[in-house]
Amino acid sequence: DGRFKTLGRGDVERLRAMAAPETVLATEAVGGSADAAELEGFNVDWLSKYRGSSQLVLRPKTTGEVAEILRYCNSERIAVVPQGGNTGLVGGGVPVHDEVVLSLRNMNKVRGFDEVSGILVCDAGCVLEELDNYVAERGYTMPLDLGAKGSCHIGGNVAANAGGIRFLRYGSLHGSVLGLEAVLADGTVLDNISTLRKDNTGYDLKQLFIGSEGTLGVITGVSVVTPRRPSAVNVAVLGVPSYEGVQRAFRLARARCGEVLSAYEFWDASCMGAVLGHQGLKHPLAGEHPFYVLIETSGSNKAHDDEKLAALLEELLESGVVEDGALAQDESQIRRMWSMREGIPESLGRTGPTYKYDVSIPIPVLYDVVGDIARRLEDAGLYRAGDAARPVRLVCGYGHIGDGNLHLNIVADRFEDRITRVFEPFVYEWVASHRGSISAEHGIGQMKRDYLRYSKSPEMIAYMRRIKDVFDPNHILNPYKVL
Ligand code: FAD
Ligand code: MLT
Ligand code: ZN
Repeated sequence: DGRFKTLGRGDVERLRAMAAPETVLATEAVGGSADAAELEGFNVDWLSKYRGSSQLVLRPKTTGEVAEILRYCNSERIAVVPQGGNTGLVGGGVPVHDEVVLSLRNMNKVRGFDEVSGILVCDAGCVLEELDNYVAERGYTMPLDLGAKGSCHIGGNVAANAGGIRFLRYGSLHGSVLGLEAVLADGTVLDNISTLRKDNTGYDLKQLFIGSEGTLGVITGVSVVTPRRPSAVNVAVLGVPSYEGVQRAFRLARARCGEVLSAYEFWDASCMGAVLGHQGLKHPLAGEHPFYVLIETSGSNKAHDDEKLAALLEELLESGVVEDGALAQDESQIRRMWSMREGIPESLGRTGPTYKYDVSIPIPVLYDVVGDIARRLEDAGLYRAGDAARPVRLVCGYGHIGDGNLHLNIVADRFEDRITRVFEPFVYEWVASHRGSISAEHGIGQMKRDYLRYSKSPEMIAYMRRIKDVFDPNHILNPYKVL
């Protein structure tokens, strides 16, 4: 791209001097000794859908090093991709061409934790699960949780404004992140690492970085308020005969268990087939059902929550809203039920290359899009349920239905344009026609960059561009993404 400099040996020498030698991975082409395989994990995304060809990966250890690196890259017009755990699902964290990868993985220290307020301050490269273990030892829980917790970074979560399975209970990171430290493209450090719950001193700049997907600055530190860890957790899996039943059960769950309801997730029979086939898990219920729901309650009084959830299950079964249900009896059953839900993305990935759409749609029509896409693929001759000879193997839906968030997945034998054309831009038009969002939680990245207009007006996009110009006038940060 003519806007950016092609990285040369001289640049690598300069950048190498800014950080410890073991934190730099450079290929022979730019004067290093790493082979392409060593950079593969930084160049390719989790879905193996997007592949860049970066020749240089920098893994600084301090905010000062990040600032020095960016200052140099900005002055030389060298494009940079900030990268966390590289679990993103829209190609946002990998280079498109040969951008330098700036990985935060060496910035992984807890900076402080206040046991009275539950406020955690840490480096952006801390792995979410490790943070959850850290705060758990002190009686707290991270306000977000997702299937990629073992690899994703808190900085990546914030940059992506990740949602996940605790969103229903604890809400968005726009609420739980209290402060950020971010380095701008020109090396300026914005120290907004506040630990205050209340701070009305003008514009709240950190909010711009939450969900900015690495396009406005590199997040190096995060302050987040963590809730008390619930001492009583219950989980049940339900077999439901229809999508209508999934909604009715949600209404009843809120009515009967609202104050302790902490998750309401659903998946369809195709997802269940994939999970059982790939995760070695036993079916939690006696037979098959068109839909499955996982309900979780979290509270502080086990007897109270047991009684409430048991009464809800009885009512759901007696009224015929659900056909079957199983209540986890101990911690290991709770874990197994959750791993069934959380194992869906990996199981679909093992079934075949997966096209993922992550949309917000009003709950009553949320699942309709799955049927509409399946019909379009059938009409195009690419799919028939159960026919393994067709290029498309599965069309399925799951997700955080309590938040109005559907994950529509299409599993095929390869990523190819003739398949994509069947559902793009149709899926985005479908979502826009219901005033939904083309990204509920995964972001725009490179995947949806050309479709942003389905969820944002021209005026809003114009202001987004102006904000980008303010923070990164040379557009070196994560080019080709979002805008
Ligand atoms: P990366 O993938 O490395 O990067 C994501 C984006 O953030 C990129 O644009 C990157 O440039 C930018 N970025 C990363 N770190 C920084 C930083 N320090 N400063 C500035 N920009 C940065 N997402 C959900 O919302 N909910 C889910 O339930 C969910 N479940 C998932 C389950 C699985 C199995 C997988 C593989 C992914 C899932 N995701 C989910 C998507 C993904 O895990 C999240 O978006 C996660 O927050 C990404 O974090 P990461 O550290 O891997 O970021
Ligand atoms: C999930 O909810 O499992 C994640 O968002 C990942 C996915 O959509 O596959
Ligand atoms: Zn999700």
